[in-house]
Amino acid sequence: MISIKKITELAHHKTGLIIKKGDYVVDATAGNGNDTVFLAEKVGPVGHVYAFDIQIDALAKTAEILKKKELSDRVSLIQSGHEQLLQYVRNPVSVVMYNLGFLPGGDRQVTTKSETTLSSFKQALTLLKPGGMITMVIYPGHSEGRLEKEELMLVCKDLSSSDYAVLHLELINQANDPPELFVVQKIFFRPAE
Ligand SMILES: C[S@@+](CC[C@H](N)C(=O)[O-])C[C@H]1O[C@@H](n2cnc3c(N)ncnc32)[C@H](O)[C@@H]1O
Repeated sequence: MISIKKITELAHHKTGLIIKKGDYVVDATAGNGNDTVFLAEKVGPVGHVYAFDIQIDALAKTAEILKKKELSDRVSLIQSGHEQLLQYVRNPVSVVMYNLGFLPGGDRQVTTKSETTLSSFKQALTLLKPGGMITMVIYPGHSEGRLEKEELMLVCKDLSSSDYAVLHLELINQANDPPELFVVQKIFFRPAE
């Protein structure tokens, strides 16, 4: 059963509905590897995951968990900021997943930043296949997270409604600014004129 209190589970739920075996997808913030493993299982043996992180420790943890699950061969681990997305990924992708903030158990000063997050998000929009999805888990409880939320909100409100649908999910009865989820889907049909 899914818990709607776990925003990362909601991101998996939404993307799990659209990823097909053989798809190319991106984990823009590999961290401890949980999202990378989820995506690698979903795309199957002929699909591919591009997983980015700026921290070597995060990529080492991700590599370890992939190895244990025998999923390493379907994942490229990329030590680079996701703001370099288009330098590494050129194929159309069905999902770009972000889980912002800092590495749990790591240095809290090394966190995603609004400027690079937004730059990456705009690049991700250009990579999406029709029907493809970007999910972004944001942590507005810390100052950089609040800024990321405000700036993403402005960019999303400006997206053409005939090209993208944007969903913003927020737990409204929890204390301490819980994480929030943005889901952006590229429109895959146009209503008949
Ligand atoms: C909340 S963690 C990700 C959790 C991860 N998805 C998981 O399933 O365990 C956020 C990660 O973003 C990484 N990060 C920070 N800035 C980044 C950037 N510009 N590009 C890519 N990753 C970045 C951090 O190093 C950290 O590991």
